[in-house]
Amino acid sequence: MKITKRLIVALTIVIAAVTVLFALYQVHEEKQRLIGELERRTLILADSLQESVAPLMQSDSPAKLNRLVVRFGNRERLRGVVVFDRQGTILASTPELRQKIPQPFPEAVRSFLENRAESGFINIEGSRTYVYVLPLAGEEALLGTMALFHDASYIDVRLMEIGKHNLLRFLAHTLLIVLITLIVVRWSITGPIAQIAAWMREQRTGKSRTGQPMIAPRGDVLAPLVSEVAHLAKSLALARAKADEKAVMRLPSDSSWTAQRLKDHMQEELGGRKLFVVSNREPYLHLREGSVVRCIIPAGGLVTALDPVMRISDGTWIAHGSGNADRDTVDARDRLRVPPENPSYTLRRVWFTKEEEEGYYYGFSNEGMWPLCHITHTRPLFRLEDWIEYQKVNEKFTEAVLQEIDGEESPLVLIQDYHLALLPLLVKKRRPDAKVALFWHIPWPNPESFGICPWQQEILLGMLGADIIGFHIQFHCNNFLDTVDRFLESKIDWEQFSVSRGGHTTLVKPFPISVRFDGIDPLEPKERVHTPDRAELLAGIGVQAKYLGVGVDRIDYTKGIPERFRAIERFLEKYPEFIGSFTFVELGAPSRTHIKRYYDLLAEVDEAVNRINWRFQTAEWKPIVFLKAHHSHDEIDRFYRIADLCMVTSLHDGMNLVAKEFVASQEDGEGVLILSQFAGASRELKDAIIVNPYDREEMADALFLSLTMKQQERAERMRRMRRAVGENTIYRWAGDLITALARLRSPEDRA
Ligand code: F6P
Repeated sequence: MKITKRLIVALTIVIAAVTVLFALYQVHEEKQRLIGELERRTLILADSLQESVAPLMQSDSPAKLNRLVVRFGNRERLRGVVVFDRQGTILASTPELRQKIPQPFPEAVRSFLENRAESGFINIEGSRTYVYVLPLAGEEALLGTMALFHDASYIDVRLMEIGKHNLLRFLAHTLLIVLITLIVVRWSITGPIAQIAAWMREQRTGKSRTGQPMIAPRGDVLAPLVSEVAHLAKSLALARAKADEKAVMRLPSDSSWTAQRLKDHMQEELGGRKLFVVSNREPYLHLREGSVVRCIIPAGGLVTALDPVMRISDGTWIAHGSGNADRDTVDARDRLRVPPENPSYTLRRVWFTKEEEEGYYYGFSNEGMWPLCHITHTRPLFRLEDWIEYQKVNEKFTEAVLQEIDGEESPLVLIQDYHLALLPLLVKKRRPDAKVALFWHIPWPNPESFGICPWQQEILLGMLGADIIGFHIQFHCNNFLDTVDRFLESKIDWEQFSVSRGGHTTLVKPFPISVRFDGIDPLEPKERVHTPDRAELLAGIGVQAKYLGVGVDRIDYTKGIPERFRAIERFLEKYPEFIGSFTFVELGAPSRTHIKRYYDLLAEVDEAVNRINWRFQTAEWKPIVFLKAHHSHDEIDRFYRIADLCMVTSLHDGMNLVAKEFVASQEDGEGVLILSQFAGASRELKDAIIVNPYDREEMADALFLSLTMKQQERAERMRRMRRAVGENTIYRWAGDLITALARLRSPEDRA
């Protein structure tokens, strides 16, 4: 039985029971009252009449007695009066009664014999009658009896009326109460429950019945339930996503993603369509040094990751031309083919004025967005003039993208990073057919942290122009969705991890970026044959050391470089046996030094190196060698390969590809990786020695552990990490992202 039916039946039974009890009580009370009144009235009449009847009986005057009786009996509701002799036979009577009562009249006989008044109800011709008999006393003995007959049928009529009223009252109460109950139940319970169920179904399936996202029911008695269910649904979806993320990392992929496989896959997925990458940083930069023009590959994860993908896709990479000889090396349409030694794709350069570079790159991107997204306690700076330049440059990039994709059908546009947050919406507005992905290379903070950005809504709206937004890890996706939930009116689907707004849906997914993994791939043959000569390399930098550690960074405050050096200092204090035998080589590329925070950091790093070296160094040894310069991949690779350990101590980092590059370089399988728990890479490289870079003691102990670890354990850890990187190469990242983007259905497909 449904709850409403049960409620109606229960209410009806209760109301009926209460009404019946109440009616019985009322009938009983009324009956008592009416009978009492009847008895009193009869008694008074009888008393007054017996005064006159008794003398007439004694004087034996039947005619007079009869007249008295007839006259007296003619009163309202009094049916009559009868006088009986000693045997109960009628002496005088109201005429109508004479034939209707039995003789001898039993009550009269009993009253005479017992000499007391008798009363009760009798039936005379179907009509209830109250009879009161009292003995009549003479001077010496009883003379007979006298009976008063009162009509009592009005009592039954009155009691029937009470019954009828109660029945009507019962029906009216039942109807009203049931009606009100139904309204309240529907309004406050079944209605909201149905709404919650529909909303939960939509949460679960991601399908809306109306086509419009359903708003979670609020403000009702069930509001606490709704909020709990919403949390539950979100937690379940997050737990599932986390489990999926872990499973993807644990399971070996069906086969390794190599350059060749990605090439074949792209051919299949894109069917000849080109790929367009847009980023601030260009992959090849031309610098004039005197009369010589040098081409360098800038430091940073973005170029390391994307250049190999572009080499096999023959697409176009649109980026800022930041080298002082860049304009001299492009054609009339600002393009050139790269890499110089083996031209495989097109680089389209975009030019900025000094003001634009200042406001957009140094200002808004690197003094605002960068510290906003990295939680390293460096305060973000937001200036209106920077924001204006940021918007102008994003529009400038839009024009370049539109020129490049002109004539291309449903082009795939992969936008990179926080410099170009507005670009997805700007491109989509002008080319709705383009499939746009935005990959965010840095972390995404929680809503509270992001909330300090004065242009939070504009940034989010710009990003949500993309069809897919990618982060390195699920945690950053969750933070992003929470942020959108906090600051924009939109529908978040925690099952699909998507945001719908104004008819457009953006998927928000983790795509953990990676590096090449040489040697497993015909397109990327093993380039290095000889292990570099350790003694020669160390001699080149002027040190002799038994043990070697390496660090490779852009000099950035997020990388935890001073923290790392202080840990090395502590290590030498705690384990002095390594003084003279352990050297750490830092390959640090100065970066963004135009910004005071970076300029000061460089000075701070220099100061730390000098202080620690001065404290511990000997004639032929020093603990830290700081190679402050831009280093080529080959130079870096040589150090990776002779190092006993590599330290990645980021205070906060989206992924950190140095960690993966170091693993990929360890063909002999001996090096140990010390890795910050705050770098995205720590989710995949579980066999690194995971450290908290703020914990100096822990890092010093990690150094000791790395240098004293048994060869077998080092080899096993590295083997497992190499398998993780080998199965999740940059080709897999690109394959997953491109597949997800290419398979998105366009609005026309859906129509
Ligand atoms: O990893 C984040 C990132 O901004 C990348 O986009 C870039 O490759 C790297 O840092 C270097 O930064 P910049 O381009 O400012 O030198």
